[in-house]
This record gives sequence, structure tokens and C-alpha cells, in this order.
Amino acid sequence: MPDKKNVERVKKLIEKRKLAQKKKGVEGKKDLIQKILSDIDDIPPFSQIATKALKLINNPKSSAVDIGRVISYDQALTAKVLRMANSAYYGFPKEVTTVGEAIVILGYDTLKSIVLALSMRKFYDHPVKGYGLQKGELWRHSVACALTAKFIGNHVNYSNPEEPFVAGLLHDVGKLILSEYVKDEYEKIMNMVTLRNVTFLDAEKAILGFDHQEMGVRVSEKWNFPDKIIEAIGFHHQPTGAEIDPLLTSIVHIADFICLSLGIGIGADGMLYALEGKALEIAGISSTEIDGLISESLEVTIEIDSILS
Ligand SMILES: [Fe+2]
Ligand SMILES: [Fe+2]
Repeated sequence: MPDKKNVERVKKLIEKRKLAQKKKGVEGKKDLIQKILSDIDDIPPFSQIATKALKLINNPKSSAVDIGRVISYDQALTAKVLRMANSAYYGFPKEVTTVGEAIVILGYDTLKSIVLALSMRKFYDHPVKGYGLQKGELWRHSVACALTAKFIGNHVNYSNPEEPFVAGLLHDVGKLILSEYVKDEYEKIMNMVTLRNVTFLDAEKAILGFDHQEMGVRVSEKWNFPDKIIEAIGFHHQPTGAEIDPLLTSIVHIADFICLSLGIGIGADGMLYALEGKALEIAGISSTEIDGLISESLEVTIEIDSILS
């Protein structure tokens, strides 16, 4: 369960950001988010298995037996986990036939993240029309960002490498919700991006009155995501606004930038994506290191393909 006080803090920070934006003259109509929020009961519940996996990830006392139980509830998930354990990436010489063996090979922590990613696939696996992304592209972008964030987390010795994975996986969840509502406004947003050379995010705010980060915060609060994750969702494009865990949000921001640089899930959001130098500072990554990180992240695509196959 998210800490209510922290969620309120995230919302206040978002209000602060909106005020700053207003001063810059980028604001738009305010009634649309209210309309979406009033329809929020129609927004699908977050996948039950993903909710269970998320709970296990956040519970330090959870065990391999618990995750085995979650996987065994779902035959398709069991098949995918076994296929992954048998993939060339892990190079295990003998065929892996049980979930118990898969836990040993993949590692308990990795498996928790994989279960979360796989169980979210159905949820993400439709075209995100408003953002010009093909079917599955947002999911592919989210998985790439999750794996890259985990990799960066390890690189900077982040305390729990699974948290960057989860935050990376969920960072653009607001797009899923908004894609149902921005279809008509999309053209207006694109015109603004091309004719006035503003970022996609500023165009979203100007046309909609808010952006996919804010929508992500609203919906992830409803889905009871952990507060650090809610903050990372709310600030992944402007990580310096984060206060609860600026390092986690910066890791997700850098991972998002890397994935877009590699062309994974470009869509309309990839235009004019600005890497905040302060995020590198927070993560303790030098600007020369970033090129190395981008090329090392390419290896991540191997892992993505084994998840996607
Ligand atoms: Fe985003
Ligand atoms: Fe993204």
C-alpha cells in the first residue's frame, strides 16, 4: 500500500511543477483530467497476477515458494518462465522443466521482475494510438526501460536493483490511460510539436492541460503502487522535481533517454527528448560514461527478445 502522506507529497510537487509551467505560459484546458478522473471507475483494474508480483517484490519477507505459487496460478506464465530459463541467454546445459529449477537458474529477484513484466503484457499489448506507437511497442519500450534501469541501478549500486526495474516498467503507464482520450487531440499535439518546436510533453500540457506523468500518478495511486514508484512515474521526464527518491527517478529518466536513443518505442514521445544533466549528477554518472552505458544497454535487447519470444 502506498503511504498516503507521500502520495500527497508527490501530488503537491506536481502542482508546484504546474505552477512553474504556468509562469512559462504553457497551460491548457483543465476539464479533461476531471472528465477522465470521473470515469476512473471504468479504467480496468491492474492485472491481478501483476498486483501479486508487485506485492511480493515489495515484501522483503517473501520467498521463492511464494513466487512459485503465483506463477503456477497461470499456465501461460509458467510456460513463458520455463522458455526464458531455457533460453540461450542463460546458457543452462540441461532442459529446465519445473518452476523450482527456473527459480534457481534465473534467480529469485530476476524471476519476480519477469513475472511482473510478463503478467503486464496483455495489459500493454494493444496499439497506443494517441502516441503513434504500434501494437506492443509501448510494452517493448517499457520492458527495455525496465532492463536498462536495472542495469543502471547495478552500475550505480542502487540499494534494491528490482525497484528500478519496476519503476522502468511502469513509467509510461499514464500513456495507456490517456491513449483512450487523446485520439482527437493527437493531431493538435503533433502540430504544436512540429510547428512551434515545443517538446511533446509541453504540447500535451498545452492541449490537454496535463501530461502522461500526471495521469500515471493518478492511476497508479488507484492501483496502490508503492509511493517511490508513483514518484518515479510522475517525474520521469523532470527527475529533479523528485524528493522521496531522486536517485530512483533519475535512473528511470536516464534509462528512458537511452531506450529512446536506441530507437526502442520512439513514437511521438521520442521527439526532442531532453536528458537532464542533473539526473546524471544525482546518479553519479559522468557525461563520458553515458556513451558507454548506451552501447552496453544494447546487450539488453538480447534479453528483451528472449522475454518477447
Ligand atoms: Fe514518458
Ligand atoms: Fe518512456
